[in-house]
Amino acid sequence: MIIANWKMNGSRRSVATWIEVVSNNVNIKKINPCIFCPPTCYLEYARRLIDENSSSIEIGSQIVNHSFQDESLTGGISSKMLKDLGIKFVLVGHSEQRNFLKESKNVITKKIEEALDDELSVIYCIGEDIDTKNKNETHLFLSEQLDVLGQLQSTHKDKLRSITVAYEPIWAIGSGLNAEKVYIEETHQFIKKYINDHLGWSHLRIYPAVIYGGSVNLDNCEEIISSTDVDGLLIGGASLNSETFYKIYNLS
Ligand code: 13P
Repeated sequence: MIIANWKMNGSRRSVATWIEVVSNNVNIKKINPCIFCPPTCYLEYARRLIDENSSSIEIGSQIVNHSFQDESLTGGISSKMLKDLGIKFVLVGHSEQRNFLKESKNVITKKIEEALDDELSVIYCIGEDIDTKNKNETHLFLSEQLDVLGQLQSTHKDKLRSITVAYEPIWAIGSGLNAEKVYIEETHQFIKKYINDHLGWSHLRIYPAVIYGGSVNLDNCEEIISSTDVDGLLIGGASLNSETFYKIYNLS
């Protein structure tokens, strides 16, 4: 799974050019989905262009809201609306949303549950800050973030295959400092083992996919994707350039 996360970037024009260039040059394999997450306001436009190009690019949403019982939410976007648009994937728990939008674990849990209820695949983002890394507390920090998935093996047992974990160390996002291969491998192994051993997925024989994000570019993508237990890439800045993105996909 290779994902382009455009964050708050782009225009109608750049969305159209990107879809055209990537569609014409990418060699999409079914087992490795190629996912485009434009800003929400361009989702429907992107859907239309991808359909017109008969492209196999999938679309993901950067946001989803959960419903508030008996309350309304101005500006909200529900998983039902995303499904209605033909969106298959949604990012939940991105560190920028945790930090700037103050998303709590409770909110993240509800978003994941509703998205799964509406048949969306969830890319659940986790990752430690630099202080946590320097204090050697990464595993403890990540395990607390992973505990959000704890309930799901009883409430959404049949939907666990629709969850992918994206490991994005906060200090590596947009900094040009991608994590070293050994560190990525060790952390991905920890995440998979924690989900299997502590969250009770192992007896269900469901092995979670874990993808990496944080300053991935054309120069480092091959090394990162060749790492043990790295099942894909979540790319921010480098995905804005259509040529860079399709080359990364084709190398992965
Ligand atoms: P960069 O690739 O720009 O570091 O962003 C990573 C990211 O946050 C993707 O979700």
